Amino acid sequence: MVKKAVGLFLILFLLGGLSALAAEKVVKVGVVYEQTGNVATFGQSAVNATKMAAEEINAKGGIKGVGRIELVIEDNKSDAAESANAYNKLIFKDKVVGILGPVTSTNTLAAGPIAQQAGIPVITPTSTNPRVTQVGDYIFRACFIDPFQGRVMAVFAAKELKFKRVAVMPEVTSDYAMGLCQFFKENFEKLGGKVVAEEKFSTGDQDFSAQLTKIKATNPDAIYVGSYYNDVALISRQARQLGINVPLIGGDGFDSPKLFEIGKEAVVGHYFTNHYSPDDQDPVTQKFVKAYKAKYGQTPDALAALGYDAANLLFDAIRRAGKADPKAIRDALAKTKGFKGVSGSITFDENRNPVKAAVILQVQKDGSQKFVKKVQP
Ligand code: PHE
Repeated sequence: MVKKAVGLFLILFLLGGLSALAAEKVVKVGVVYEQTGNVATFGQSAVNATKMAAEEINAKGGIKGVGRIELVIEDNKSDAAESANAYNKLIFKDKVVGILGPVTSTNTLAAGPIAQQAGIPVITPTSTNPRVTQVGDYIFRACFIDPFQGRVMAVFAAKELKFKRVAVMPEVTSDYAMGLCQFFKENFEKLGGKVVAEEKFSTGDQDFSAQLTKIKATNPDAIYVGSYYNDVALISRQARQLGINVPLIGGDGFDSPKLFEIGKEAVVGHYFTNHYSPDDQDPVTQKFVKAYKAKYGQTPDALAALGYDAANLLFDAIRRAGKADPKAIRDALAKTKGFKGVSGSITFDENRNPVKAAVILQVQKDGSQKFVKKVQP
């Protein structure tokens, strides 16, 4: 008799435990970032911020009514084919309900069609090429796009720095770089400026002396470089060695602590457009800067800020969808209005691009980035 009662009690206890486990639902979110390879600092910052965002939500018990967030994190090694492989794994094996990343345009363009076809919503924090979201209605981004970014620097260079002659250097394998240089050029010429040289280079190039020698002969006021921090740092050093002492100007690809680590005094004075400044006194921005610094011991760069915003945009859409269903999440995402991000307020236009301000930053002697101005769209 006693034995029977103990047995029954045990069974009830086990059942209770099982149902408690079932109640702890999990929402699987895929993350594909450039954590190794030639733009590794971009992905590392984005992963840090994504983890922070997920931990904050999970500390409150997860997404209300839907479940705890489980991140499935993949490294695409800064490579387009690896990005597509990671999407296939996340969608068909892990069965994630949404994907964050990659951070660069070429890699997002390579993977995007897989998610579009499978009906899995994607948010890229920082892929700025206009074609990225044209892949389809499941692809969103948390950043402005390059026609705007190119114009902002063209106006600043022509009107405020009074530059008349600028040389342009695009990296030819990058959709981002090719587009951005084109947008800069069109706008700079419209403002009466002259593009005095256009010297291309390719990913992995280490020696830029041929291009820089030609550029030097055209006597430019600045060189607009379309690429990421590694290339920019090397080009800067070699330009100085050749006696070219004008600043390099460019876009968000300049943003990495490595720019100064590699480029040192050769990158001081460079101007670039970016998504956010850690000096922005907005309370939402400052709260994030403080929390990120406390957790990682670093000032968050734009990749961290936008990685954080992209993650929270997705979590917010899952909450509003009320279920871990990719189509419902997509529809909720499309209706995002005035989402208060650390990089500004986010409302998507009909092409799933937020309309947001850009900032202009200048590299200082100590490697910090001075906030110069904010430009509204
Ligand atoms: N905008 C770049 C691209 O589209 C990526 C990037 C974003 C780089 C932000 C640095 C900072 O490829």
